Amino acid sequence: MTAAFPALRGVGEDTATARQILDRCRALVRPALAQAVERLHPWPAEMAAYSFGWCEVGGTPTEVTGGKGVRQALAVLCAEAAGAPGEAAVAGAVAVELVHTFSLLHDDIMDGDPTRRARPTVWKAYGTGPAVLVGDALFALAVETLATVPGARGPLAVRHLAAALGDLVRGQADDLLFASRPWTGPEAVRPDEYRSMAEHKTGALLGCAAALGAALAGAPDDTVAALDRAGRHMGVAFQVVDDLLGIWGDPGVTGKPVHGDLRQRKKTLPVLAALNASGPATESLATLLGLPDTPDDATARRAAELIEQAGGRAAALEEAHRHIAAVEACLDSVSPAPRPAEELRTLLAFLVRRDM
Ligand code: IPE
Ligand code: IPE
Ligand code: MG
Ligand code: MG
Repeated sequence: MTAAFPALRGVGEDTATARQILDRCRALVRPALAQAVERLHPWPAEMAAYSFGWCEVGGTPTEVTGGKGVRQALAVLCAEAAGAPGEAAVAGAVAVELVHTFSLLHDDIMDGDPTRRARPTVWKAYGTGPAVLVGDALFALAVETLATVPGARGPLAVRHLAAALGDLVRGQADDLLFASRPWTGPEAVRPDEYRSMAEHKTGALLGCAAALGAALAGAPDDTVAALDRAGRHMGVAFQVVDDLLGIWGDPGVTGKPVHGDLRQRKKTLPVLAALNASGPATESLATLLGLPDTPDDATARRAAELIEQAGGRAAALEEAHRHIAAVEACLDSVSPAPRPAEELRTLLAFLVRRDM
């Protein structure tokens, strides 16, 4: 933890308020999300319910921690920011949570990760084939959810989602390809390539969530576009913090493995920033990461120390804060209704201070 950014461990009054906002939006969206999942074949429906934290493997009902619900909250708050009741955004909120969960199920297969949301990943619990299948099912369900929105807003919403999905695939493709690029030298991944990858893999869906909320509320096109941009910047900040939590987070709190990115040679911003610095820590880090073997736990811990010493952790947090400032500028440009604007700002602060 660097002294300049003491707040990454997210506890405090703002965090409690952010959790209340997330809970309010989750409660608003949950009935429609559950109804959508019930329309699936019972087997993918069970796997979907498992990943939302609604049941155990085998279907016994439970209520454990599912996702944070950031994307559904963004859709609801952006509808409210555009002057409509949050209910206007529910179809969009359902669609983005379905797509988000679909992308996580497939991402965990791609990344080989065994835990998510503090439980075995769906591919670990049910098998890879079934996890691919339920991902496909959630994707189709998301499109159907938006396509059945009455009037012209349905096709408009589907177009937003399709564009975001194209970007998400682009970002995931780069993320996977970057893993086989070298850490140093002319072929190394540059920070601007990282930003583009993060905007695509994570920012596109947050932008889509914000845009859908506003579009379903009937906001003018320029407002929808500004909120899309806000969501994209939010997504880059969110991904940078996810990268930080992947190195220094507590797996007991994040519900995800720690050091997985380092082991898989993912080109995350803290590492890229540390390698772009100069000095003995940068040199030692380059040597360590250049070793041919997959880093073991001790090597990953040593790498984390060197990344911090080389300034990678502070640089990544600075980058996250720059994107948060860009979000605020986008929000200011659309003159949002005061209460949702305040709630969006609380959510923003939480995104960079979160510990999960
Ligand atoms: C995880 O997203 C994937 C990233 C884009 C970093 P979240 O951190 O929003 O995941 P859940 O839904 O809360 O589990
Ligand atoms: C998140 O990718 C983006 C998508 C799932 C599309 P990551 O691989 O960085 O996210 P986590 O850390 O597994 O949640
Ligand atoms: Mg992953
Ligand atoms: Mg990934």
